[in-house]
Amino acid sequence: MLIPVILSGGSGTRLWPLSRELYPKQLLPLAGELTMLQETVRRLDGIDGPGEPLPLAPPLVICNEEHRFLVAEQLRRIGVEQATILLEPVGRNTAPAVTLAALSAEAEDILLVMPADHVIKDQLALQAAIRQGLAPAKAGRLVTFGIVPAAAETGYGYIKKGEAAGDAFAIEQFVEKPDAATARRYLASGEYLWNSGMFLFSARTWLARLEEQAPEMLAACRRAWAAGSRDHDFFRVGKEDFAACPADSIDYAVMEKAGEQAVVIPLAAGWSDVGSWSALWEVQPHDEQGNACQGDVMLYQSANSYFYAQERLLVGIGVENLVVVETADTVLVAHKDRVQEVKQIVGELKARN
Ligand code: GDD
Ligand code: MG
Repeated sequence: MLIPVILSGGSGTRLWPLSRELYPKQLLPLAGELTMLQETVRRLDGIDGPGEPLPLAPPLVICNEEHRFLVAEQLRRIGVEQATILLEPVGRNTAPAVTLAALSAEAEDILLVMPADHVIKDQLALQAAIRQGLAPAKAGRLVTFGIVPAAAETGYGYIKKGEAAGDAFAIEQFVEKPDAATARRYLASGEYLWNSGMFLFSARTWLARLEEQAPEMLAACRRAWAAGSRDHDFFRVGKEDFAACPADSIDYAVMEKAGEQAVVIPLAAGWSDVGSWSALWEVQPHDEQGNACQGDVMLYQSANSYFYAQERLLVGIGVENLVVVETADTVLVAHKDRVQEVKQIVGELKARN
């Protein structure tokens, strides 16, 4: 079985004030009618045919327990009745989340790990890449999907592509979140791809690699799984055991050290990690002056800006390169080049409260 494993546990702080802990970005309709979680599930529609049949399991969503009703309701609204929803009492980053998914599956099941907060424009290209990844995943490889980099971003993993092996390529080096100088060097070399954050591997392979690289994490996840209990449609893992689990990401815990056990499939599918307001501006439709607007917005002689009005009318006159986000209790006004700093502001606000 191919199991879509949807990681929906992040808080998306850089999209504050819209994205909040109680309502993080993956549960918001940021890039269309559907929420990002719903878009992620929909992205696989049709992958089980035509062509070689592909037994597809209902999605497995892993999220914080605070979001359980929102997640269940959003899935129900798009007609997904049989999803499994695994609840984390606390976030321990992505490696423990995927480990819970692997523990819930059969050893030979193939897990398709998908973050719930990406935009992918070309669904068919994504599905083709996933199909290409099935053979190496069944053969025990950790399959990544690599994007041709567009800038020297420091928030991504970088993959140095090696020799071709079928549809996939060996990975010569995997570097998670390099510093700015290194990212610029990687970009200039033309030899690196961005790690898309999606993965394909069997449950058996993941658990075996984790046993080698982070045995304490595996042991803690096994304990949390064994202490878990069903609650209606949800499965809640043991709170104390999971809280005691070391926190780490898939990339640092396993991928950076995976060596020959990992491969990369190039992906050209209009992928974007909408991690900031400027990234969201990029994927939205623009008017002739390069503005993207949502809600009740009027602009005069303004350019290259993003305006989001939730409650009130927003009017812009003669402004450029601005991000303005209006919600019931907050208005954010930022230069479009400085939206990464929203994260620090959220940190300061948390410390203040
Ligand atoms: N269930 C669960 N629990 N999900 C989580 C948790 C958690 O504790 N932490 C994060 N997630 C979810 C996020 O909601 C997101 O959908 C996904 O896991 C990835 O986490 P991020 O925190 O957004 O990772 P990142 O963007 O810094 O880095 C990853 O993605 C990049 C591409 O977007 C890495 O895989 C990079 O290598 C990659 O380039
Ligand atoms: Mg991300």
